Amino acid sequence: MLVSAKEMLTKAKAGHYAVGQFNINNLEWTKAILQTAQELNSPVILGVSEGAGKYMCGFKTVTNMVKAMIDELGITVPVALHLDHGSYEGCYKCIEAGFSSIMFDGSHYPIEENVAKTKELVAVCEEKGLSLEAEVGSIGGEEDGVVGMGECADPNECKMIADLGVTMLAAGIGNIHGKYPENWQGLSFETLAAVSEKVGEMPLVLHGGTGIPEDMIKKAISLGVSKINVNTECQLAFAAATRAYVEAGKDLSGKGFDPRKLLAPGVEAIKATVKEKMELFGSVGKA
Ligand code: 13P
Repeated sequence: MLVSAKEMLTKAKAGHYAVGQFNINNLEWTKAILQTAQELNSPVILGVSEGAGKYMCGFKTVTNMVKAMIDELGITVPVALHLDHGSYEGCYKCIEAGFSSIMFDGSHYPIEENVAKTKELVAVCEEKGLSLEAEVGSIGGEEDGVVGMGECADPNECKMIADLGVTMLAAGIGNIHGKYPENWQGLSFETLAAVSEKVGEMPLVLHGGTGIPEDMIKKAISLGVSKINVNTECQLAFAAATRAYVEAGKDLSGKGFDPRKLLAPGVEAIKATVKEKMELFGSVGKA
């Protein structure tokens, strides 16, 4: 059964660990993440960007696939199906399609408009029992066409959005989607501490989880981060493992071209990445 992310994140915040959001692209990704979460007895959030939703034939296809997989794989750990960086229209589409959690990314609007639209969505999500993530300040880089400049959030604006009753808040703290550039300045713990102080018990979300050093992840969790998003790292792991299989000529020997064989190393690589992150985030055994 799909659940809202509220309870798992409230527990994570109180227990000083973080729940991973792993983005999905297709059946292999979804199955690998769900099986790893179950094996490690960890709660998990499946992230779906609007681009990935479109690629998978639409949000209803995604909901039906995830629900059926939870049932047929016998997954008992809490699973939230979450829209990642949703537009205003995308949020409504996912609510209708049966997602259990959505993110409204209003960070590119003037703060008044971000507040107004987030407020409206808080009411809708409350009525339907969904969790809602909002964003203040923007995450740098590009993810599926969503481009951000990477400015740090204003703690007062974070409080304004948190006070609307959202479930969790993504605040820009110098984090970037995709690989971090050589000259990256690191996370702004000063901003994170100031935001954390303003928003109190509200679980904070760290986007751009790929490539953030372990010590920074641990410090971010100690300062109130309870949800960490990882996308690119699973893609890199999948691509590298698939490349190694093909470069070794394994697709040319016997029935190595069978998609179930060809994709297997990539799937194993996704599982290993998710396991490593769940261990680092501290969510293992917390289901
Ligand atoms: P990465 O692709 O950098 O891991 O970021 C994922 C993310 O923040 C999804 O919203």
